[in-house]
Amino acid sequence: MNLKGRSFLTLKDFTPEEIMYFIDLAAELKEKKKQGVTGDSLKGKNIALIFEKPSTRTRCAFTVACVDEGAHPEYLGKNDIQLGHKESVEDTARVLGRMFDGIEFRGFSHKNVELLAKYSGVPVWNGLTDDYHPTQILADMLTVKEQFGTLKGLHFVFIGDGRNNVANSVMVGCGKLGVNCTIIAPDSLWPDDELVSLCQGYAKEAGSTLTITDQTDAVAGADVIYTDVWVSMGEEEKSAERLLLLKDYQVNAALMKKTGKETSVAMHCLPAVKGNEITEEVFEQHATVIFDEAENRMHTIKAVMVATLGQ
Ligand code: CP
Ligand code: NVA
Repeated sequence: MNLKGRSFLTLKDFTPEEIMYFIDLAAELKEKKKQGVTGDSLKGKNIALIFEKPSTRTRCAFTVACVDEGAHPEYLGKNDIQLGHKESVEDTARVLGRMFDGIEFRGFSHKNVELLAKYSGVPVWNGLTDDYHPTQILADMLTVKEQFGTLKGLHFVFIGDGRNNVANSVMVGCGKLGVNCTIIAPDSLWPDDELVSLCQGYAKEAGSTLTITDQTDAVAGADVIYTDVWVSMGEEEKSAERLLLLKDYQVNAALMKKTGKETSVAMHCLPAVKGNEITEEVFEQHATVIFDEAENRMHTIKAVMVATLGQ
């Protein structure tokens, strides 16, 4: 599989085989790291890490993955550079592309990560935008595969803010990989129709389904119950409204019971607001999986960088 030079902006740009390649490579790199073996696939490379929004996992994952593979990571926070304020994104991209070998971007506008990729001339990796969070889904799928031994045919439920970046990427990832997906959210928080149709097309091709519903009973038969914060970064003014809209969509013991399966797991991309989208009780019951998922951010992000830039 040759993915050299490719940017990683959304999972829409990759075939199911390419997505599985990232996941399998991540599993391999994880195993190596457990044995104390790190690589030098990114030796001599300089990597820019642009963060307009805060981050624990994504920032640390990129940093550790760079160092493990011999690269130098350079953190550029929102007050450190001019990005679309005093300098156009196109110009910043062209400057960074002359100095760096790869660029990670976490920020608001998805258009900006596309512009960075278009104008920098180096691989650009999306560390979360308002619309998508693709590296998260690679980690989620690796975690699910570790749990269940397979992905195809499983039933993955996302419950909560069904139109946020994580929900969008869950739909794309599940569709591409043949995982049956249900998004449960009040209808005012349903995902965009056009994206739903696109993902239903992916699902059909992969032999799975994508359902959007406001009924929490749709968790019946779920293998994974996945949630995320009710108020994403940058939407803080919507807090009161979201709490009201989503109060019946909490992942709690009663909801987990409704899956009817002893083997179902609760997952969360983190950070979690316990007492809102998930209860402390369910969170702690499933903490091992949730923190495997967090650890897997590093292995999967490393796989993306190694596959697109490594030698
Ligand atoms: N899940 C995730 O992206 O976490 P951070 O916001 O801490 O990077
Ligand atoms: N939807 C959340 C994900 C955080 C990792 C946000 O954008 O804040």
